Order: sequence, then C-alpha cells, then structure tokens
Amino acid sequence: MQVSKELLDLLNRAIARELQVSIQYMWQHVLWRGVKGFAVKDELKKIAITEMKHAEAVAERLAYLGGTPTTKPDPIFVGQTLKEMIKKDKKDEETAIALYKKIIETSRKEGDTTTARLFKKILEEEEDHHDIFTSLLEEI
Ligand SMILES: [Fe+2]
Ligand SMILES: [Fe+2]
Repeated sequence: MQVSKELLDLLNRAIARELQVSIQYMWQHVLWRGVKGFAVKDELKKIAITEMKHAEAVAERLAYLGGTPTTKPDPIFVGQTLKEMIKKDKKDEETAIALYKKIIETSRKEGDTTTARLFKKILEEEEDHHDIFTSLLEEI
C-alpha cells in the first residue's frame, strides 16, 4: 500500500496529539482538587487510557505504511483550576475532530480504506470526549 507523504505526516500529527492528551489527562487525573475534581477524576483516567490506545493504533498503522511514528507529544497543558483544565481539553478534542475528518478524507482519496475506517472509529470516540467535556463545562 503506497500512500502520500502528506498522509504519513497527518498520521504523525495525530500521534503527537494523542500522546499529548494522554499525558495531559493523566496528570489532570492526578492533580484534581475539590469536590468537582473528585467527580471528574475517574472519567479523566478512563479517557487518558483511551487516548493512549489511539496513539498506539495510529502508530501501528503508520509503521505498516512505511512511516516512523514520532515519540514527541504536542505541548502539554495541565492547568491550575478544573475549569482551565476542561476548557483546554474541550478545545483539544475539537482539534482532534477537525484533524481526523481531514485524515478520513485524505485516506479515502488515496484508496486507503483501512486508515479511513480506523479514523472513523477514533473520531466517534473523540466526539464522545468532546461531548463529555462540553457537558462538564456547564457545571464548573
Ligand atoms: Fe484520541
Ligand atoms: Fe479524545
């Protein structure tokens, strides 16, 4: 399977941000404070693990396509208050949704239906995360 350098680069951008959010959500899970923090910490842990699985799945696909997966996460933002944390997390999920729609479109164009299918599944989960963070923000 031969794909473009553009698609390989997009997959590496996806890995960098999956690594970023998995560490970001994990540290937010560790550094929570107060009653509201208590209410969301388990969810943050669950989502952090999901993001790590995304990083792994995308890296496996990239390696199969002949690319080298990056080990470097995008800049991590933990935040001081719960509101600051969840606000940034919501934004990061929006970035993921936009990027993964582009990856689905590009891989389809190149006839790489496997990558398209993988990102369709991941996109569903990112939309779910976005939904969770959006709902949480209403109450913080
Ligand atoms: Fe993810
Ligand atoms: Fe996510």
